[in-house]
Amino acid sequence: MQRLARGLLFALTLGPAPPAFSHPFSFESRTLSARYDYVVIGGGNAGIAVASRLTEDSNVTVAVIEAGPNAEDLPEVFIPGLTGAAKSFSTLNWAYKTVPQENFGGRNTSIAAGKALGGGTIINSMIHPRAEKKQYDGWGILNDDPRWTWDALLPYFKKSEVFTPPNDFQIENDASYMDEFHASSAEGRVKVGFPNYFFPQSQLWASATDFEPSMDLANGHPQGTVGVSPNALDARNNTRCSAVCGYYTPFRDRPNLDVMTDVLATRIIWDPPSPNTTLRAVGVEFRSKDGQTHQVFVRKEVILSAGAIGSPKILELSGVGNATILKAAGINSILELPTVGENFIDHVHSWANSFTTAEYTRDSLKLDADLDKQQQRLWYHNRTGMYSAAPRSLSLALPSQLFEDDDELNEVLEDTRRDVEYYAELFSNGNKNLTRGIKWQYNFALKGWEEDNSAPVELNFEPGYAGPTKNFADRPARKFSSINAVLLNPFSRGRTHISSPNPTDMPVIDPAYYTHPLDVITHVKAIQRAREMLRMPPLDGIYDGEFEPGADVDSEEALTEWAVDTSGSDNHIMGSLAMMPEEFGGVVDSELRVYGIENVRVVDASIIPFPISAHLSATVYMIAERVCSPGAT
Ligand SMILES: Cc1cc2nc3c(=O)[nH]c(=O)nc-3n(C[C@H](O)[C@H](O)[C@H](O)COP(=O)(O)OP(=O)(O)OC[C@H]3O[C@@H](n4cnc5c(N)ncnc54)[C@H](O)[C@@H]3O)c2cc1C
Ligand SMILES: *[C@@H]1O[C@H](CO)[C@@H](O)[C@H](O)[C@H]1NC(C)=O
Ligand SMILES: *[C@@H]1O[C@H](CO)[C@@H](O)[C@H](O)[C@H]1NC(C)=O
Ligand SMILES: *[C@@H]1O[C@H](CO)[C@@H](O)[C@H](O)[C@H]1NC(C)=O
Ligand SMILES: *[C@@H]1O[C@H](CO)[C@@H](O)[C@H](O)[C@H]1NC(C)=O
Ligand SMILES: *[C@@H]1O[C@H](CO)[C@@H](O)[C@H](O)[C@H]1NC(C)=O
Ligand SMILES: *[C@@H]1O[C@H](CO)[C@@H](O)[C@H](O)[C@H]1NC(C)=O
Ligand SMILES: *[C@@H]1O[C@H](CO)[C@@H](O)[C@H](O)[C@H]1NC(C)=O
Repeated sequence: MQRLARGLLFALTLGPAPPAFSHPFSFESRTLSARYDYVVIGGGNAGIAVASRLTEDSNVTVAVIEAGPNAEDLPEVFIPGLTGAAKSFSTLNWAYKTVPQENFGGRNTSIAAGKALGGGTIINSMIHPRAEKKQYDGWGILNDDPRWTWDALLPYFKKSEVFTPPNDFQIENDASYMDEFHASSAEGRVKVGFPNYFFPQSQLWASATDFEPSMDLANGHPQGTVGVSPNALDARNNTRCSAVCGYYTPFRDRPNLDVMTDVLATRIIWDPPSPNTTLRAVGVEFRSKDGQTHQVFVRKEVILSAGAIGSPKILELSGVGNATILKAAGINSILELPTVGENFIDHVHSWANSFTTAEYTRDSLKLDADLDKQQQRLWYHNRTGMYSAAPRSLSLALPSQLFEDDDELNEVLEDTRRDVEYYAELFSNGNKNLTRGIKWQYNFALKGWEEDNSAPVELNFEPGYAGPTKNFADRPARKFSSINAVLLNPFSRGRTHISSPNPTDMPVIDPAYYTHPLDVITHVKAIQRAREMLRMPPLDGIYDGEFEPGADVDSEEALTEWAVDTSGSDNHIMGSLAMMPEEFGGVVDSELRVYGIENVRVVDASIIPFPISAHLSATVYMIAERVCSPGAT
């Protein structure tokens, strides 16, 4: 039976197999004997990494259930300069909708998330830094577990990558690294390197900031520095290296790894619960594109890696969550775990941009069809030129680099301290445990602010247009310099919950953007700082007037209004199944096991307990490596 099941599933695995997904296989002959040691729900950034590591032991069988396709062969996936194009923002994107955001002027916003094998790593911007040492150390303190500290985790960051140090040309263009923080061994998986194309204005910008040059944006001390971001790319041929490239393609022939694509996991199947036994998962139910429902069974564990919106959704559809919320959605409660889907966090994105007299920007490809053709040829024939890279320089601003007036900063911090209890309660949905957890998070974050040793904001330079006027035709046909202003340490906490038993319905997602006043104040400072940077020497030499926010947005009030009207998701969702103690409202323990369940672990960005000052992907790989390492169980 095991053989039969494997044979059937093979029809669904990726491969040179014919495109037969519309009728994947017949289930008539299927019995309940398709059984694996592990079933991984979601083959994304974390899920495919976990499946790959687990199947290194040839005695361990793993099935992966992924809602999207394998998209590795699409140019918009593997060509760095096409990031965000074509299917990346249509069929490969969940494009989750939020409820109207009260503090965004009632706007509905959209949160991007990868819907493909590889998840976010298929459509993201490949920016690959790590957060602050003290933030990872905070996970360890919060969970009273020294295995979740920077020193203990560094081996797993290293193990996830195959690092290519910058060459002379890249060093000339400010790329920098410290050997002790990287590895390049046969054990490593995701290729990490630096861009091989730079726009001179990026370097002008770096020297226009008063930030210290970063020795390495992955060394645990990015705060207060500026540097060229490492990218998740294969430096040998300048192609994106996604989770699929790193963890799946080289190992796809493993007979103990079955990856199913284009199938939607709908719920976890439980052993009939009996009074004094812990809840135990026995399988997973999923749906193929033809609408049929199937089941796959598990001997050891279900690993939940469907992302910070997808994972809480599966738990709730499976009867695990806040009974009141489940009942309203038409789901029977099986295990009361009321903080599932709470503590939902996202980084917030805004911008400032100006026209520029620089010779080339990324806009040039759209403005000049001949140049575009020439650059495409360069990529295809020589793997160089503007399409071969997505260069981004990052600066991580300390509070003192945002608030130039000490008194103003102190006042803001005093207000925040005074209101810790109020907002912790406001964001915890009546759950006293979570109130305690959020209070802990606030006190921890405030310490970083007060010591001026943590970055609440990233300002990153983009050599081309970035801003709220997404549609090319709606903006002047000119070249731009842009600075993305990313709020990295929001104090707002939202939630994501199902509202119906239908697994194809989107959950009700409320990130509660800007609900905590510190978030708005900080972000507005960041946008202000960004627009000033564009005019600072030596960048002023190519400055040709501000486009956005625009000359009429000239007071702090006007800028606040502009931010409220235009800011959006930075697509860094996390926290909704937080790794925290139970008495703090956590959902998983420090082995990432869901409280009250014997054999379900969450391995994705949902477990990150509080916002960290970095793009998430490198950290998500680390989490996957950490959980698969000996001693993790
Ligand atoms: C547009 C964009 C740009 C970004 N830029 C960067 C960047 O430059 N650098 C960086 O570090 N980070 C970036 N990020 C963030 C980063 O990519 C994500 O935070 C990270 O990949 C999330 O990893 P994850 O494992 O938690 O979830 P994901 O990688 O999203 O994986 C979840 C997987 O589960 C699947 N899934 C969900 N529900 C189901 C279901 N019911 N059944 C089956 N499968 C399901 C999804 O299709 C997906 O493949 C970006 C994200 C986006 C969307
Ligand atoms: C796999 O199982 C076989 C038989 O139980 C055993 O002999 C072998 O050592 C195992 N291999 C690994 C890598 O654990
Ligand atoms: C926002 O979404 C809601 C549904 O959640 C819809 O009723 C409303 O019309 C939308 N509002 C806007 C401004 O798009
Ligand atoms: C890039 O190189 C890797 C090997 O390092 C190879 O596996 C991959 O197919 C190449 N990609 C493209 C698009 O050339
Ligand atoms: C369950 O545990 C309770 C308290 O420990 C005990 O009184 C009861 O008899 C147990 N029930 C079963 C079915 O074992
Ligand atoms: C092709 O690439 C090499 C190095 O990768 C570079 O030296 C050369 O200038 C490139 N050719 C063109 C026409 O750009
Ligand atoms: C469960 O959800 C309801 C409705 O959102 C909320 O009022 C209640 O406080 C929650 N219960 C717990 C224990 O968190
Ligand atoms: C709060 O945490 C305690 C463990 O410290 C747990 O027993 C209790 O059920 C939790 N309460 C809620 C409402 O989650």
